[in-house]
This record gives sequence, C-alpha cells and structure tokens, in this order.
Amino acid sequence: MSLGKIIDKKKNDLSERIDKQKVPEHVAIIMDGNGRWATKKGLPRSFGHNKGVNVLKEIIKASKKLGCKVLTVYAFSTENWSRPTKEVDYLLNLFAEVLKNEIEEIHEESIKIKFIGDLKPFPKSLKNIIYHSESLTKKNNTFLLNVCINYGGRQEIVKVAKELAFKSSSGEIKPSEVNEELFNSGLLTHGIKDPELLIRTSGEKRISNFLLWQVAYSEIYISDVLWPDFNEFEFLKAIIDYQSRNRRFGGIESLPNESFEDSQYSH
Ligand code: FPP
Repeated sequence: MSLGKIIDKKKNDLSERIDKQKVPEHVAIIMDGNGRWATKKGLPRSFGHNKGVNVLKEIIKASKKLGCKVLTVYAFSTENWSRPTKEVDYLLNLFAEVLKNEIEEIHEESIKIKFIGDLKPFPKSLKNIIYHSESLTKKNNTFLLNVCINYGGRQEIVKVAKELAFKSSSGEIKPSEVNEELFNSGLLTHGIKDPELLIRTSGEKRISNFLLWQVAYSEIYISDVLWPDFNEFEFLKAIIDYQSRNRRFGGIESLPNESFEDSQYSH
C-alpha cells in the first residue's frame, strides 16, 4: 500500500471513531511552533510561517467537513509586536498575500471571515484587504473563520470594563446592571458561542492571553506537534480526545437511572 493510502486509511479509521452528534461547534486554535519548526530544519523562521498557512487551510477544510461551525485562530498577538521588525513585516505581508490569493476560494466555500483585534496599528494596505474580505464574505453562513490579529484577551476585557464604566458614569446604565450577559455583549466575539475546544500546538501549556473570557469552560487539548506539522489527522485526534471528556461545567455528572433522592446525598 502506498504511503498516501496508508495515511488516508488512518484518517478514515479516526473519522469513524468520531461521534458526529458531538462535534464541537466552535474550535479555537493557538497555532504555535512555526519558528521552532523552521529552526530545527536549519531554515529561516519565515519558512515555518509559510508552511503554517498551508496547515491552516487544511484545518479549515477538515473542521468544516466535520461539521464545526466556527474556527478561531490566533495569528498575531499584541505581544508579537516585540519580535524583530523584519519578522513582524514578514507576517503582515504574509497575511495580506494570503488574503489576496485565497479570498475568492474562501467566499466560494461560503466561509465568512472576521478579524478580531485592534486593527488600528496595521498598514492601510492590509486594513483595506481585511475590510474587503470581511465585506465580501459577510453574508456567508456555512462556516465562520475568526482570525485574531493584534488581539489580547486582557486588553479586550479592559476595553469592555472601560465602556461599561463610561456608560455607568453617563447614567446610561446602573452599576448594578453589570452582569455576565452585559459584559459578554461588549466582547469582540459577541454573538459567537464560546469555544467548546481550545487546541494549542507545540506542547506549550499556556493560554497566552488568548480569549481569556471565552475559554472559561473550554476543554483544552495540547498537541506536541509543531503547527507546520499539524494536519487533519492530528485535528481528528484532538476531536476524539475532546469527545472522551466529561463536560460538567462545575456541576456533577448525571448518572443514568439514578434520581437525586437515590443518590449518595440522600443517605
Ligand atoms: C506561531 O509560531 C505562529 C505565528 C505567530 C503566526 C501564525 C500565522 C500563520 C500560520 C499565518 C496565518 C495567515 C492568515 C492569513 C490567517 P511562532 O512563530 O510563535 O513559533 P515559535 O514559538 O516556534 O517561535
């Protein structure tokens, strides 16, 4: 059997283990390890970022095929500005190039693309491509791709707190009216269900300021694979792992055929 056929068979075997009724609606991904992947191969870090784009395309297709509805990826954090200017410029150019080359296909696939983060500091040319991509795809409703750029979870929370403070001091709302729902409505992700699953590649076990509010109850899956080596097979492994979890949201597992009165607490 050829290597391609063996890989396809392995993927099919995994796909068959997936419960299609329990596919997470929203998956968030911290795509980490591009630089290390390239350095390990004696290549410039930019090669890792280029390969990372291909992986992202594969994962968008895989998650859509599986029945996920939303994919949110961390492409550039507020902390990434501290990288060497050459790398920052490379990444910003890459975003623009990828969008230019892929937006028609994204649109044809009925994918809506949305950028989450403070876009102000980006070059006008990149902002124009972003606005064009968002407006072209805004009516698509099969799948939503959120790309977080110049995004930071703490900054997002402070933004909401500030807006609520202003509304309160102007009398528009009472301080006592501030609750989770109101807070949530000010987030950059308002209207989007929180991710059920957060995947981070490259073995790092950190949240790194990503969607701090939104991942409160997300299942976390850490893959040791560096992002440029991540693929549909690794993604399916993450989904199977997620499906084996017991999501209780701070409650207790409901036991079949056991009423509250029958349970240990009634003794
Ligand atoms: C993390 O690897 C990856 C990034 C900072 C960039 C990710 C961007 C892409 C994959 C391109 C996406 C393109 C679009 C249009 C959304 P790292 O550089 O932090 O790797 P390291 O931890 O090994 O240094």
